[in-house]
Amino acid sequence: MRGLTLSDLSILVLHGPNLNLLGSREPEIYGSLTLAKINILLEAEGAKLQTNVSFMQSNHEGILVDGIHEALDKHQGILINAGAYTHTSLALRDAIAAVDLPAVEVHLSNIYRREDFRHHSYISSVVIGQISGFGAQSYLLGLQALVHHLRKERKEIES
Ligand code: DQA
Repeated sequence: MRGLTLSDLSILVLHGPNLNLLGSREPEIYGSLTLAKINILLEAEGAKLQTNVSFMQSNHEGILVDGIHEALDKHQGILINAGAYTHTSLALRDAIAAVDLPAVEVHLSNIYRREDFRHHSYISSVVIGQISGFGAQSYLLGLQALVHHLRKERKEIES
């Protein structure tokens, strides 16, 4: 951490299963923005925050686990919407705990207003915090929160 400048921050944004279908997938729940558009918004937000943002989407649990492992030497934090794996995946939870990178969990929909099976997140116990229910804005708020956390952590290390 020491010696890095503000613009050296790099965040990995991980999108889980079925999020590649955003735009046409249940728009009444997930909104009408495509994933490509959400990524463009995140890139613009990253630029405002002087932060580099990289993206990965997969429908496969193991590929997402690999993505988390590979983040270790490349990125300082992870923004993750694990989709349905949020509610099922001990492997994703363990991967985030294993790399020990600060992470923020986001959801487009408010998972607590939906079916009972969406109320439990395996991810939430290993992340800094969770933002749920604000549509695409959840991602932008999540990015802001993560960058704020990393900058605060960095200042504490440097002081
Ligand atoms: C989601 C909520 C999950 O329950 C669901 O399986 C998704 C998307 C969201 O962003 O609201 O795929 O993570």
